[in-house]
Amino acid sequence: MPNNSENEIKKLGKVYTPPYIIARILDDSGYKGNNVLQKHVVDNSAGDGEFLLEFIRRYKKAFFKGKDKNNIQIQKEFALEIETYVHGIEINPDSIVIIKDRIKKMFINEFYFEIVPEIDIKQNDTLFEKSLDEKMDYVFGNPPYVRRKNLSDDDAYIAKENNMSGMVDLYLLFFIKGKKMLKPNGVLGYITPNSYFYTQSGERLRQIILTETTLLEIIDMGHNNPFKNADTYTAITIFKNTPMGKKIKLKYSDDFDKKSEKISISQEDIEKLTKYFYFSNDNNDNFLDIVTYENEDNSEEIKVKNGAASNADWFFYFDDAKGVYTQRAYKASTAKFTRAYFPYDDNGDVVKLNDIKEYNHDFFEKLKIDRPNLENRSLQKRNWYEFARSQGIKDFVDTKVFTLAINNLIKDKNDLKMKILPKKTVVYSGFYIQNKSKTFLNNIMKLLQTDDFSEYVKKLGKHKSGGYYTYSSVDVARFINYKLREGKNE
Ligand SMILES: C[S@@+](CC[C@H](N)C(=O)[O-])C[C@H]1O[C@@H](n2cnc3c(N)ncnc32)[C@H](O)[C@@H]1O
Repeated sequence: MPNNSENEIKKLGKVYTPPYIIARILDDSGYKGNNVLQKHVVDNSAGDGEFLLEFIRRYKKAFFKGKDKNNIQIQKEFALEIETYVHGIEINPDSIVIIKDRIKKMFINEFYFEIVPEIDIKQNDTLFEKSLDEKMDYVFGNPPYVRRKNLSDDDAYIAKENNMSGMVDLYLLFFIKGKKMLKPNGVLGYITPNSYFYTQSGERLRQIILTETTLLEIIDMGHNNPFKNADTYTAITIFKNTPMGKKIKLKYSDDFDKKSEKISISQEDIEKLTKYFYFSNDNNDNFLDIVTYENEDNSEEIKVKNGAASNADWFFYFDDAKGVYTQRAYKASTAKFTRAYFPYDDNGDVVKLNDIKEYNHDFFEKLKIDRPNLENRSLQKRNWYEFARSQGIKDFVDTKVFTLAINNLIKDKNDLKMKILPKKTVVYSGFYIQNKSKTFLNNIMKLLQTDDFSEYVKKLGKHKSGGYYTYSSVDVARFINYKLREGKNE
């Protein structure tokens, strides 16, 4: 397997799919046996051709049933069918050379054939390739995962055209384009990040899948990440290009090694699923209700906030920070107290650099030394010597409220780190909730220290390495407010 350079991974999303995954995608999509004959199939991000080679192997097996492999005439017919029905698109010209060479070698060294087809591989940006639109029986692939900030202007334009907002990742656009390539009733099977199950930028895709296609199968690979890239958690998605009927049934598994089970979805759940892809047969499972919970009557609700953002924790948090413009600090992820350089007054307003110079010599000297690094942060129009965001600053000088700090990475409830902090403590690397009543915060803590909450976190499905799950401040707020409302209504 070729070595992928960092640039190729970042800009082109070049990471190759292991054969066992390819086999599962093709099998479960029905691209097998005689079903492959005279069916147009494409890998629209062909890379070095892993999928393409497997298409050809399957085609050969079906085509030569009862036929003489050594007959040159029949080999010619086979080559012609491959040229007609197997397609590839790839943006990187080097990969195209590799694919052609691999196919040639397969025909000569593996099949012992004399006739080698001239395979149809287009060197192009798939999003702009129109020649295969609505012509494919099958679309497969492991589309590139490329974050918004690395998207080309052209691709960003396509995102806009498709009403996609938020941090659009290239793979989302490949879903839209792949669907466009299908004939009516054609089938698409992709392996992609599973983040489209819940991201805001994935909402349009979830809606399209639920309203314009028939979802056949979802395999969420969970913590079983088949790629070396540690922080990409993937899912296989298979759908048919025809709107779902009234009764919706799909196959679902939350683990590659588990057999998929049949799930039925009611029409009423479609709207909730548009907000969050989550599938379960359990009638008592209220996950979708919690995760789509909204405050309808604008009543007073609990706010869960993100801790302070300095973008230079190495500078601002320091056990020995003392004197004026320093404050007690607490790292929620490790449950450790420390101190912070905190250039704010009692109202949470930023102080002048000259005041720091006058009242805290150590702080000022350190600032002088690290000025170039501090200036290099993303600062959003804030002074170079202060925190990177305003979030929380005013909360951390409030003397009237208590603060409950919460970490945001757990395997189960034993990993939850929660603590009610003394007033005027800077919280970072986690979330916090503030309230005048310590008793109230204690009750919130009890609510989160339940199996209910850790199960909810697992179902959110935001995988992290080492078997961990993460969650956002909004996720925590939804859980608490849903539960509080449930308690009130009982
Ligand atoms: C994750 S790799 C997958 C390769 C292959 N499908 C596999 O599974 O082994 C993604 C491939 O998409 C290609 N690619 C990236 N952007 C593309 C674009 N806009 N159009 C076509 N191909 C693109 C990359 O060069 C890379 O080879």
